[in-house]
Amino acid sequence: MGEPAAEPELPVLLDSAKIAARVRELAAEISRDYQGRTPHLVGVLKGAWVFMADLIRHLSIPCTVDFLGIASYGADAISSGEVKITKDLDASIDGRDVLILEDILDTGRTFHYLQGVLAAHGPRSLKLVALLDKRSRRVIPVQPDYVGFEIPDVFVVGYGLDFDQKFRHLPDVRYLPKPPSH
Ligand code: XMP
Ligand code: MG
Repeated sequence: MGEPAAEPELPVLLDSAKIAARVRELAAEISRDYQGRTPHLVGVLKGAWVFMADLIRHLSIPCTVDFLGIASYGADAISSGEVKITKDLDASIDGRDVLILEDILDTGRTFHYLQGVLAAHGPRSLKLVALLDKRSRRVIPVQPDYVGFEIPDVFVVGYGLDFDQKFRHLPDVRYLPKPPSH
């Protein structure tokens, strides 16, 4: 009986207004760089979908969208680099200007893997847009082409990002004061 226990308040790293302003800037940059073309935006599920939904509404050029579902083996907080595709692309990327949209770039292993898989399918160009970049954690030297925010090595949730499938709905990016064990 009664109310479910409230989640403890998590500290805010990036509030929703700051995120919205930066997402608009990224959309303007991409619209400029892809003027006269129709980029194909591939969102990496599930973390990138909130970011993608906001970003495309500020593009001033046409685009098409698709989604790729991936799951990392091992614990949620750690990327082993062994990635399993849980949902493949619906449409061919042959000859397309592909922009991969990621919620966060951490060690770089996931993106490195995706880059290899997608490059094999003959896109005209392949670039990475990452909302968040934990640059200090990089193991594989991959560099996003567009970055929302460089962030410190904290475990973040909200704005699509989860811990154990929780917190995706939070409008701000927050962090867990006690990081999940690495
Ligand atoms: P790698 O290390 O392969 O990792 O670049 C990218 C994936 O790791 C997850 N990840 C996080 N997820 N908060 C999250 O909710 C974080 O702070 C975090 N750091 C890494 C995420 O799935 C990302 O796609
Ligand atoms: Mg996750």
